Amino acid sequence: MTEQTLVLIKPDGVQRGLVGEVIARIERKGLTLAALELRQVSTELASEHYAEHAERPFFGELLEFITSGPVVAMVVAGDRAIPAFRQLAGGTDPVEKATPGTIRGDFGLQTQFNIVHGSDSPESAAREIALWFPSLNS
Ligand code: PPS
Repeated sequence: MTEQTLVLIKPDGVQRGLVGEVIARIERKGLTLAALELRQVSTELASEHYAEHAERPFFGELLEFITSGPVVAMVVAGDRAIPAFRQLAGGTDPVEKATPGTIRGDFGLQTQFNIVHGSDSPESAAREIALWFPSLNS
């Protein structure tokens, strides 16, 4: 089933020059790019994007981090794109959860600096795509 998912290359990934590496992995998997933009995230957008984590103890740090430098925002499309990208990304904690061969497993050390974000469900994907790319009809 063709799906769309919202993928972010977070400020650490952009700063470390991992944009090409991440996009290459997405394309090698067979997924395609439906939209792509480099942008500086406002605190308002960051708060809306991570609204479900507002009560978590790390919420403030998460907002500070995601607004600390430009991110690459993408809409990635393809068969089962949502779980397929999460498989490519690996688990949230790059050491304890992500396995080697995944983006986080290969390039990450700390949970906060885990390089990429991918929508976790069809509902989240629809909400996040509408938030980041309001001009797209998904
Ligand atoms: S967890 O491990 O259950 O908390 O993971 P998760 O619910 O997927 O985390 C939600 C997002 O918060 C980020 N995160 C953190 N940021 C900063 N500090 C700490 N300690 C931390 N723990 C989790 C995590 O990377 C998730 O971000 P996204 O962008 O959704 O991957």
